[in-house]
Amino acid sequence: MISTKIKAKLASGSAIRKMFEEGNRLKKLYGDDNVFDFSIGNPDLEPPKEVAETLKELANNPTPGMHGYMSNSGYESTRAAIAAQRSAQSGLSIDAGAVCMTVGAASAMNDVLHSLLDDGDEVIVLAPFFMEYINYIENHNGKVVIVKTGDDFMPDFGAIKAAITSKTKAIIINSPNNPSGVIYSEEQLSKLNELLKAQDHVIQVISDEPYIDLVYDGLTVPSVLKYIDNVVICFSWSKSLSLPGERIGYTLVSPKNEDYEDLTGAIVLSNRILGSVNAPAIWQKVVEKALNAKVDVANYEHRRNLLYSNIVDAGFEAVKPNGALYIFMKTPDGLTDVEFQEVCAKYNLLLVPGASFKREGYMRLAFCVSEKTITGSRQAFFKIAEELNIAHKAEL
Ligand SMILES: Cc1ncc(COP(=O)(O)O)c(C=O)c1O
Repeated sequence: MISTKIKAKLASGSAIRKMFEEGNRLKKLYGDDNVFDFSIGNPDLEPPKEVAETLKELANNPTPGMHGYMSNSGYESTRAAIAAQRSAQSGLSIDAGAVCMTVGAASAMNDVLHSLLDDGDEVIVLAPFFMEYINYIENHNGKVVIVKTGDDFMPDFGAIKAAITSKTKAIIINSPNNPSGVIYSEEQLSKLNELLKAQDHVIQVISDEPYIDLVYDGLTVPSVLKYIDNVVICFSWSKSLSLPGERIGYTLVSPKNEDYEDLTGAIVLSNRILGSVNAPAIWQKVVEKALNAKVDVANYEHRRNLLYSNIVDAGFEAVKPNGALYIFMKTPDGLTDVEFQEVCAKYNLLLVPGASFKREGYMRLAFCVSEKTITGSRQAFFKIAEELNIAHKAEL
């Protein structure tokens, strides 16, 4: 007999997964080229060459015990390399002990939340946000507190302040953001730090950073370590090296963190007791060698530009994303997200309603799809705008 908790989650299902199935159904009916499926954010670039090179080197020169158990925090050399990289970026002196290797960002966040939360403790999330956060927080009996961001998807500090209670243990930030693509500025990070430090108890910032290397327009993402004291980073190579199936990432506790000693130890213990034991051994070696490599970010930027032009040229509105893999377009006035989704589906254009990110009035489109799909969809955007009497902003 399964638990009532998981039974309820099974019943609610995932809207994104349903769209994925609908996409497959339509592709069978109309052919791959005639369905414009922007619903799933699956990184589609191949990993950089350093990944295959290191794998070959490891396979050709095996060392005894290379597949064995290890310290729950991971290989010392990998953690030291990450600490050195983050020290150089932030100007702080970070020790390998700050780092714990994890099974992707998902596992990193579960390790951190398990380490922080007592039953009923509150975690603030900024809407729109990646919906798995709800599961991650509830896994450890925490309470999700949703705070809306502004129309520009930047933090609303007044609303965050109003949401803080004596039970607030943490706030999750995600910049570059899924689904909005915004990047928080140095000023915003400093302001968040000031607000949290003014409270009468420690509130940890969990900085979820899987998109930190997918940044466009020549921008850089400010290092949270420089601007926020009580912060734990959750990083993953799912997007930076296009390795989502390999499940490799890390946590890093800031040396300025008031709970540094307790938190670093607790995360390593949580990594073991939640069942990961340690992160995959081979992949720790690979990421250590490929630490400064990245997927072809210009390729994603090109596709972002094409999809963004389709949306705004047809007459719709969207904040141009500076990072990540998504465009969060505005649902046209007078329509609910589901009504707009239905109009789009008539033209075989699939997108995910904002409710899936707890922010209605918007739709998410992932641009990590083939260029052919993006160029092919231009006509569909224009036809949808015509059906809704929305004036085009450019020629087809
Ligand atoms: C914002 C965000 N956080 C965390 C994750 C989970 O990443 P990982 O595959 O490393 O577990 C994702 C995956 O898409 C994500 O979009």
